[in-house]
Amino acid sequence: MENARIRPRFELTDRVAIVTGSSKGIGEAMARGLAEFGAKVIVSSRNQASVDAVAAAYRADGLEATGIACHVADADDRGRLIEKTLATYGRLDILINNAATNPYFGPVEGLTPDAYHKTLDVNLTAALELSSLALPHLRKSGHGSVIHISSIEGLHANPNFAAYNISKAGLIMLGKSQAREWASENIRVNVICPGLVKTKLSRALWENEQLAQQFTNMIPLNRMATPDEIAGLAVWLASDAASYVTGGTFVADGGMLG
Ligand SMILES: NC(=O)c1ccc[n+]([C@@H]2O[C@H](COP(=O)([O-])OP(=O)(O)OC[C@H]3O[C@@H](n4cnc5c(N)ncnc54)[C@H](OP(=O)(O)O)[C@@H]3O)[C@@H](O)[C@H]2O)c1
Repeated sequence: MENARIRPRFELTDRVAIVTGSSKGIGEAMARGLAEFGAKVIVSSRNQASVDAVAAAYRADGLEATGIACHVADADDRGRLIEKTLATYGRLDILINNAATNPYFGPVEGLTPDAYHKTLDVNLTAALELSSLALPHLRKSGHGSVIHISSIEGLHANPNFAAYNISKAGLIMLGKSQAREWASENIRVNVICPGLVKTKLSRALWENEQLAQQFTNMIPLNRMATPDEIAGLAVWLASDAASYVTGGTFVADGGMLG
């Protein structure tokens, strides 16, 4: 019987990772997790000062990170993100498409084309485009891993969130499609669906105490998550510990969807 060791497979030493939308929230926690397991991490968001501050905080803790600003819906920014990553660290092994927006809250019949397209551009199309730009470098990596951050809203429609729900459902099928096509090159693609996580994006759902209570009552663990509770799943999926895992959809929702 082969006696393979498991722990070293979680190591990300010498791997280079981009995490979009990682100046705060779930993206920041995932970026830190990858860096703690040895990856060189590109911290990215729209604001250069914010990503510089996060990268500096990681470096102060002995981790390796660089901040590169990128509005994921801007094609030039996406190109620069990949180019600068290559110029800084010389390779790319892991891409986490995490940045998202949710500009419209209201009934589906009131969703304007503008709000719809803005949501889809940031949440879904950017993930497709960035993955395609990353592909030649993930091929060279030999163990490329792409992770799309969807949501339980990609599996279960939340009323008044139609564009967001659609974008998150699209990410699940984008990931499955890429996984089928890229498996032969050992590039794995997986999707994480968080439940309610206490961040700026979800503020409207937890700032109001009554509404927050309504939501937590629907969660078997009876609380919302903190961003660090999503990071372990991302580290595992990024690493060789998940070498046989591709095309998967992984829910971390405190039991909410049952
Ligand atoms: N929080 C939840 O309950 C929850 C639940 C399920 C899924 N999710 C998903 O988890 C992911 C992270 O959400 P979060 O709750 O951690 O959000 P968050 O705390 O608001 O953080 C969002 C991050 O994305 C960046 N960002 C926003 N728009 C961007 C753009 N156009 N281009 C590049 N970066 C952008 C923000 O920085 P800048 O503003 O500086 O650009 C920030 O770093 C999203 O995909 C979200 O849909 C969240």
